[in-house]
Formats: sequence, C-alpha cells, structure tokens
Amino acid sequence: PVAIAVVLLGGYLLGSIPFGLIATRLGGAGDIRKVGSGNIGATNVLRTGRRDLALITLLGDGGKAAVAALLARFFIDRIAPGADPLAAASMAGAAAFLGHCFPVWLGFKGGKGVATFFGTLFAVAWPVGLLAGATWIAVAVIFRISSLGALAAAALAPLFALALHSGYPVVVMAVFLAVLIYIRHHENIARLLKGQEPKIGAKKAAEA
Ligand code: G3P
Repeated sequence: PVAIAVVLLGGYLLGSIPFGLIATRLGGAGDIRKVGSGNIGATNVLRTGRRDLALITLLGDGGKAAVAALLARFFIDRIAPGADPLAAASMAGAAAFLGHCFPVWLGFKGGKGVATFFGTLFAVAWPVGLLAGATWIAVAVIFRISSLGALAAAALAPLFALALHSGYPVVVMAVFLAVLIYIRHHENIARLLKGQEPKIGAKKAAEA
C-alpha cells in the first residue's frame, strides 16, 4: 500500500509539471491558456507559431510520463520486493497522465493527456508506443488534424497491446487512458463532427 501510494503520488507530481505553460511563459509567447483552444498541450503551443516551444512541450510532457513509468519500473523492487514492475510502471504512467490532465497547481485544469499517453506507452511497452505513434502520424499526415490522430491512436492502443501480448497491466492502463482521452477531447469531438476542427499549423481554434 505504501509502495502504491509512492508510485501514484510520484507519478502524479511529475505529470503535473505543465511544460506547455512553462515553455511558453519562459519563451516569451505569453499565456498559452489564452491562445487557440486554450489547452496547455503541444498542439496548442504550435498555434503560437513557435515550433521550438511546441517540440519542448511535446518532449517535456511525454518525457515526464516516461520518466515516472521508468522510475517505477526499475525501482519498485527496492520499496516493494516482488511487485510486478510492469504494473508499477503502468500505474505510474497513468498517475502522470492524471497529473497532467488535473494538476493541483492549475486548479486541476490541465491538458488532454496525449503526450503523456505516448510517453507512458513508450516506457511500458515501446512497440505499442511505436504503433500508436505511427497511427497518430498517419492520421495527422492524411487529415492534418491533431485531435483526430490522438483519438485514433487512443482507440487502437489497447488493441495493439492485446495483439502484441504486452501484458494485462498495459492493456488495462491503455483502456483507462484511452477512455479519459475521449472524455478530455469532448469539445474536439464536437468540432470534428461539425467539420470545424482546425488543421495542424492553423493559428485559430474554436474556444475550448
Ligand atoms: O493533444 C491535444 C490535441 O489532441 C488537441 O489539442 O489544442 O487542438 O484541443 P487542441
């Protein structure tokens, strides 16, 4: 129980670091929450026209979840001998995802979890991360819509985990995060259905 609390709290705290907000503030691009969709993620940072800051946001947000999962994976044995490293890593990644989406520092108003989802997948089962990443890229190249790529990747990730026999913890984590990604994207889904979702690189986005 103590080990689970450490994994969950550690993951949550790492995940709650808002790289998009920090990068745009320090990079002189203002408050990202007042731009485009208002989201703190890399897609919205790109709407400031600053590709460098968007890349930092993507790598920072993805990296923090990967770090949380990897730390749990390799150190769980020290605090809970015999515990399943894959389960610990999946829990830590999911906690980082929750930290990103609901950060205590921002009044629990965080991001949509796409980068942290990918970071977690790469850290717990990299082939699943690779396939999910390829899904995002394929959809983004064809349709030029970031949210659509994320929704496709989220829907397929649990199936990839099943097909690759990545293990029960990975499948459960992927389903859990995929459901949350759909919930976090409800405004994007409404815009997609109306054909109003902005293309990647376009400066404007409907208010989220
Ligand atoms: O990563 C979030 C992305 O899927 C959508 O972002 O800013 O277009 O709502 P945004």
